[in-house]
Amino acid sequence: MREKTTCGWFFFCTCHNIAFSKDIAVLIENMNKREQLDQLREEALLGGGQARIDSQHKKGKLTARERVHLLMDEGSFEEIGAFVKHRSRDFDMEKQQFLGDGVITGYGTINGRLTYIFSQDFTVFGGSLSETHAEKIVKIMDMALQNGAPLIGLNDSGGARIQEGVVSLGGYADIFYRNVISSGVVPQLSAIMGPCAGGAVYSPAMTDFILMVEKSSYMFVTGPNVVKTVTHEEVSSEELGGASVHSTKSGVAHFSCENEVQALDYLKRLLSYMPQNCEEKPTSLYYETGDESRKQLNGIIPDNPNQPYDIREVIEGVCDSDSFLEVHKNFAENIVVGFARLAGRSVGIVANQPAFLAGVLDIHSSTKAARFVRFCDCFNIPLLVFEDVPGFLPGTDQEWNAIITNGAKLLYAFSEATVPRITVITRKAYGGAYDVMNSKHIGADLNFAWPSAEIAVMGAKGAAEIIFKREIQSAANKEEALKEKEQEYGALFANPYRAAERGFVDEVIHPEETRSKLIKGFAMLENKVANLPRKKHGNIPL
Ligand code: HXC
Repeated sequence: MREKTTCGWFFFCTCHNIAFSKDIAVLIENMNKREQLDQLREEALLGGGQARIDSQHKKGKLTARERVHLLMDEGSFEEIGAFVKHRSRDFDMEKQQFLGDGVITGYGTINGRLTYIFSQDFTVFGGSLSETHAEKIVKIMDMALQNGAPLIGLNDSGGARIQEGVVSLGGYADIFYRNVISSGVVPQLSAIMGPCAGGAVYSPAMTDFILMVEKSSYMFVTGPNVVKTVTHEEVSSEELGGASVHSTKSGVAHFSCENEVQALDYLKRLLSYMPQNCEEKPTSLYYETGDESRKQLNGIIPDNPNQPYDIREVIEGVCDSDSFLEVHKNFAENIVVGFARLAGRSVGIVANQPAFLAGVLDIHSSTKAARFVRFCDCFNIPLLVFEDVPGFLPGTDQEWNAIITNGAKLLYAFSEATVPRITVITRKAYGGAYDVMNSKHIGADLNFAWPSAEIAVMGAKGAAEIIFKREIQSAANKEEALKEKEQEYGALFANPYRAAERGFVDEVIHPEETRSKLIKGFAMLENKVANLPRKKHGNIPL
């Protein structure tokens, strides 16, 4: 194309007896340069070529570029490194060059806020990670860290570029290192939109949130073939590491999305609750009060203290309408965590869920909540806790799998958190779980209790059975005696007033007063300053 144009000009000049002057030559050269750039830009847009783009679409997947454009505000994306090519010379690789080398990197805005992004392009060597591919990601990560803005990774990759060997592994390690260094400084979000296997899984694993797309994405350290060889187990990619598995069984994924568009939408929503970096506070949003339509809080707690209810009804009754975004919805359902807004301000919610395993704390619920608490604390998001917990789950399974260490994670995470922290005890606050669930003793700023609260070492029946064992056994009517002692213990402890007498509860409130008390409480705590003793870092029980 360029040569044709040059010849055309030469032909035109000679035919018209025009001297092929230096000026014209410069003009032509400049035009050629412009064309060259435009051509390269067009080439870069095609990634691995139209046939591979079509194949990506046939699988029901968007291309890396389409994902970026859907996610970022229209026209805001600025690409960096579109002309990067790999440097590999083995296996005739010099003959297979694609501009961008399998990853699109750059920055733009999401809802007006600066965000850095990389999006792996499966049409180029299956999105596999070469030395240069890694360098592009590293460059963007360094920029996100230096300029204090969130980083989003859209993962769709066959893993290490097999033709490159160890330089690819080095590239992964460069990324892992930056994931860790950036952790707690800027939010890092990962969406898995295709394969993510082998050591490659560890970059998303070290980011703050992982979203997976159902049926088209999977994550595993070793794939089905290796599993079969080593353990003789036959399992599909989906069964081994699909979105459903990771959002219900392993807890690796925080969100399981029906399709890619929904995943991109969740990314946008998630970011809206977070600040740009650890030095900032989350932005407040204008909100409609919508008080009339909000769920009524009176009447949610059943008369029978052992009857379940859905804690989400309480969350919805307290928070701004439609503001609750649940995280880890289908994993460890005995605790509910997620982001919401109170009078337009972000809060992180941790709530025992009486509708699932009576809201008991176990290994998974403790680690799920601990990680969420630590995220909120990193990024100045105040914590709101709803407590209705009968204690820790007993049994060999829990003990042998270290409920001691894992339960301690939640205790540690709350104790260490310096953000404003408020607890509302809706019903049971029993035993060690009372201490763990953001009690005043471990640094909560305000604790409220509803009149239905029961704050005690354990439930009245269990307590009566232990401390009145002899009286009950020697009674003529054992059942009657137990009932009597249960009532005696309950009258003393199955209420919030003992704790309120001591100041362990700041105020006993009616359910309908909760929203207003919380809005005022968090406003009062807005400029809270709490410093931990100087140390290198604590040693959370891992
Ligand atoms: C180079 C790769 C590649 C890779 C895929 N391709 N994976 N090229 N390195 N790792 C290329 C293919 O040659 C093909 O090129 C194109 O990408 C699409 O691949 P297909 O196999 O046709 O696609 P599909 O059937 O959808 O299968 C996708 C796949 C499969 C499941 C990802 O390609 C696969 O199993 N790849 C190898 C995965 C792997 O073992 N990676 C290394 C993991 S170890 P053409 O030219 O035909 O388009 C690892 C270590 C990291 O990652 C350690 C970090 C610490």
